[in-house]
Amino acid sequence: MTRLRATIRSVRTIIEPFRIKSVEPLRQTSPEEREVFLREAGYNLFKLAARDILIDLLTDSGTGAMSTEQWAAVMRGDESYAGSDSFFRLKSACDRLTGFRHMIPTHQGRAAERILFTVLCKAGDVVPSNTHFDTTRANIEFTGARAVDLPIPEAADTQARLDFKGNMDVAALETLIEREGRARIPLVMLTVTNNSGGGQPVSMANIEAVKRVCEARGIPLYLDACRFAENAWFIREREPGYATCTPREIAQKMFSLADGCTFSAKKDAFANIGGFLCSNDDRVAQQETNLLILTEGFPTYGGLAGRDLDAIATGLDEVLDPDYLRYRIASTEYLGRHIADRGVPIVEPPGGHAIYIDAARMLPHIPPAQFPGQALAVELYRHAGIRSVEIGSVMFGAAARHELLRLAIPRRVYTQSHIDYVVEAILEVNARKHEIRGLEIVEEPPFLRHFSAKFRPVGGA
Ligand code: F0G
Repeated sequence: MTRLRATIRSVRTIIEPFRIKSVEPLRQTSPEEREVFLREAGYNLFKLAARDILIDLLTDSGTGAMSTEQWAAVMRGDESYAGSDSFFRLKSACDRLTGFRHMIPTHQGRAAERILFTVLCKAGDVVPSNTHFDTTRANIEFTGARAVDLPIPEAADTQARLDFKGNMDVAALETLIEREGRARIPLVMLTVTNNSGGGQPVSMANIEAVKRVCEARGIPLYLDACRFAENAWFIREREPGYATCTPREIAQKMFSLADGCTFSAKKDAFANIGGFLCSNDDRVAQQETNLLILTEGFPTYGGLAGRDLDAIATGLDEVLDPDYLRYRIASTEYLGRHIADRGVPIVEPPGGHAIYIDAARMLPHIPPAQFPGQALAVELYRHAGIRSVEIGSVMFGAAARHELLRLAIPRRVYTQSHIDYVVEAILEVNARKHEIRGLEIVEEPPFLRHFSAKFRPVGGA
């Protein structure tokens, strides 16, 4: 028995820690067909029909595969308007994990953001973060407040390999509070992991340092906790003192340092929809609940069906399984290393949920005004049917700091051979990258350009 166990342990390959019970066919298309789809979509991958995509790496949000336990939980869902069992199961899962006094469900992360900032922010306020996600920034600015990113300076170098490149610049936070005055800063946020900053983790030491700054000045600290479990795993693997802790213990400590959180259950709860908002402040929670009723629903369902609440409750437990997190982070790293070590510049080191290709570095012959990230996204789809998303001048206009292409990995959806296919496709595109042409905009809506703009290849098509 002992010998057998030793033999099993010696197999080093990290495998998908699940087997497949229900499958969904993928539809193959030819490069010629994809060229037609591209032209019809105005070279904007948001406008493609999903059925025309082979491997969809547009986002890891709401695209995960639910487990047998989650589907069983869906059947258990209690659809009572008020006080459903499903709510209490979610409340219990959330209490065990976060320890926050109040939790209200919301239909997704941005609904939690809108409610939080409506209650806490007013015109002229400033909300610092390591890096705000776009919806977070937009919801802050909708209240008239200003969203300020304070990533560590080293994060600007896409090639720097830091263990915790998602950290906040604590000295810059202190300077900002000094300059603006404590009264204008209603809260500080930390996004874990730092999505817009390359899916990079935040260390426990950084959360503790930010907490000390906030506590000394009476400013509440909130986590944007979308990818809390992936962040916890990075802490376990990389931060001294945590190697023997469970992911749950690490996550609990992360939450214990905060005064509240926003959460999109579409990421680290394996749900297709949902989110929640937590707070330790009774008065704030009361105001949040009033707003919730206005647009989301009664406080025990908040815009979700009972079955959604149950799927989230189960997902919150499953995501902290060490075997899952080991596989998850290894799989993302596998994709990153296999393309980066063969000459494709990525944001180093590989993040938790996604790999970001530095398109400006890969395609130096395409200037930012001709959208290198978008051109690469188009080519990857044309070549292999893979959908990714540009995070650069199309998404942010003149405010873009980098020209990136994000390959986000849906949770538990694709296997090793799918990832191998993606690696091979990217390397093939990289081998003839000099042929890739830039794009120009032919139709531009006044807002949300990345969802609806139409392009054409520079020089005509
Ligand atoms: N915060 C972060 C860090 C996010 O990545 C997202 C969504 C949200 C908040 C908003 O949550 O979508 O449930 O309303 N990110 C998705 C993405 C859309 O593709 O990265 P939501």
